[in-house]
Amino acid sequence: MRFAVMASGRGSNFQALIDARARGELPGAELVLLIVNRRDAQAAARAEAAGIPWEFIDSEAMARAEFDRRALALLRECHAEAVVLAGFMRLLTPEFIEAFRHRILNIHPALLPLFPGAHAHRDALAAGVVESGCSAHFVDDGVDTGPVILQQAVPVLPDDNAETLAARILPYEHRLLPEAVRLLAAGRLAVEGGIVRILPKK
Ligand code: GRF
Repeated sequence: MRFAVMASGRGSNFQALIDARARGELPGAELVLLIVNRRDAQAAARAEAAGIPWEFIDSEAMARAEFDRRALALLRECHAEAVVLAGFMRLLTPEFIEAFRHRILNIHPALLPLFPGAHAHRDALAAGVVESGCSAHFVDDGVDTGPVILQQAVPVLPDDNAETLAARILPYEHRLLPEAVRLLAAGRLAVEGGIVRILPKK
């Protein structure tokens, strides 16, 4: 399965995919393109180093619909069959999501449906929960509302701030996202009534 990745910044989750693939842990999954929406996204340098083609589309310079149209055109050009949002900090239009229904994965740093949106760690701390974590999920029209694929709980410690909590959760994101990609590429994810079922190995 040909995967395109979309990222906005640091790209450590994208790197986790590159590394998992290099270790042979993603059989049947190819990383064919990276799209970044910010000129300064470090993810681009990671693509360069890994020999993965990448493109920059300036999300500041155009409306959402135009950005998504251009992204879709690039995805079609490289025959992408699925999309991974790896720290892609923008909402997608329903047209984009429909074009890749149940073929867009996202990694979110909280135990969805708790704490969706861009401030998951801050919101988890404000709620006083004793554990948070991360979720790999399919993307639907809502903000972090799509069907959950995999989750990992991580403790919240009394002295945590958003940075320390983020740092504790991040290594688990780096395991969950490649695992979700592996399952999708292996044809082992079924969505039934909004719930993901992980099918047994063939
Ligand atoms: C990750 O915590 C991801 O869950 C969130 O944004 C962060 C991106 O980190 N959506 P990176 O760019 O993958 O290093």
